[in-house]
Amino acid sequence: MSVQAPHTSPFAGLGVTSPVLAAPMAGGPTTAALVTAAARSGGMGFLAGGYKTAEQLHAQFAEVRAAAPVFGVNLFAPSPLAIEPAEYHRYAAALRPLAERYGVELPPEPVEDDDYWEQKLDLLRGDPVPVVSFTFAVPPGQVIASLRSKGSVVVQTVTNAAEARAAADAGVDVLAVQGWAAGGHSATFTPRRFPDPIPTAEIVAMITVATRLPVIAAGGLATPAQVAAVIQAGAQGVMVGTALLRTPESGASAAHRAAIADGSRGETVLTRSFSGRPARAIRNRFIDQFDALAPSGYPALHHLTSPIRKAAAAAGDLEAVHLWAGTGYQQATTDAAADVLRMLAAAL
Ligand SMILES: Cc1cc2nc3c(=O)[nH]c(=O)nc-3n(C[C@H](O)[C@H](O)[C@H](O)COP(=O)(O)O)c2cc1C
Repeated sequence: MSVQAPHTSPFAGLGVTSPVLAAPMAGGPTTAALVTAAARSGGMGFLAGGYKTAEQLHAQFAEVRAAAPVFGVNLFAPSPLAIEPAEYHRYAAALRPLAERYGVELPPEPVEDDDYWEQKLDLLRGDPVPVVSFTFAVPPGQVIASLRSKGSVVVQTVTNAAEARAAADAGVDVLAVQGWAAGGHSATFTPRRFPDPIPTAEIVAMITVATRLPVIAAGGLATPAQVAAVIQAGAQGVMVGTALLRTPESGASAAHRAAIADGSRGETVLTRSFSGRPARAIRNRFIDQFDALAPSGYPALHHLTSPIRKAAAAAGDLEAVHLWAGTGYQQATTDAAADVLRMLAAAL
């Protein structure tokens, strides 16, 4: 097994000294400032390419490079989850009263897209970055090889041992092992099923047996002891998302921050009600009302519910916003991002 000293990072070869990294968070929370703060802590951050055009993503490169030469870029690999039009229309009809309440129109037919996949790959081949990571699916081997040939280290997010083996076979360098506790979308390759409720440290232990690749653990890590436990289980690094949502460098919306900060909010749950793929969020009225009705269907459901979520966020109505959060959200603080990352490394 390629075991490194537990305190080194899987990116030590790139000069990254701390194993505690900032996870990519699409939809606003990840900013260039968050990525550079992660570098300042001795770790590394990932820009979130999801939902952006290639141009919007590229604009962030210069901002990050000015302060942090080593960073990653995360993309959603296409893994379309098709929806029957009848199922789409049934769910749209259930959502219509809420859309009317916010005065928004819903897309009349399913919108399927690939999130500018080819354009973003062209960008990463034309202007290579130190690390590229993928979630939702393993891209074809030749895509991975083309990025590696440009000098990028390729990371694949996986949620179980079978996915880890598929990623290893496709030629990736590092695995990001995402546990069930993680905030936001699950990286699962089989999104019609919810991921199994297995603690992150246990999945790490299983995957370090299944492959020889270095592992970064993610999901529900909110305290130095939890970080130390996954490193003990065999991970060489960790990635945190939720712990950074309230930091000054985060671009999370005011509504999202307010929900994370609200001590009276209860559990997080896995739901497909917002996007048609399993994702972990703080439970609210939208989930209570629509979770049981929601079919699988990504990205069609993401586009379907988006007008409602945007209007609700703008109105500060937390009950119809996707409040992505991991199980440890109540520990998130407003400290500077670099301090949060250093604090989480304190028990290593
Ligand atoms: C708001 C939010 C957005 C996220 N967006 C992405 C993303 O764009 N790409 C990705 O691979 N993972 C995404 N994730 C998952 C994180 O990368 C990471 O796996 C997760 O945050 C780890 O669990 P934690 O939130 O409990 O720390 C997101 C998570 C959150 C909370």
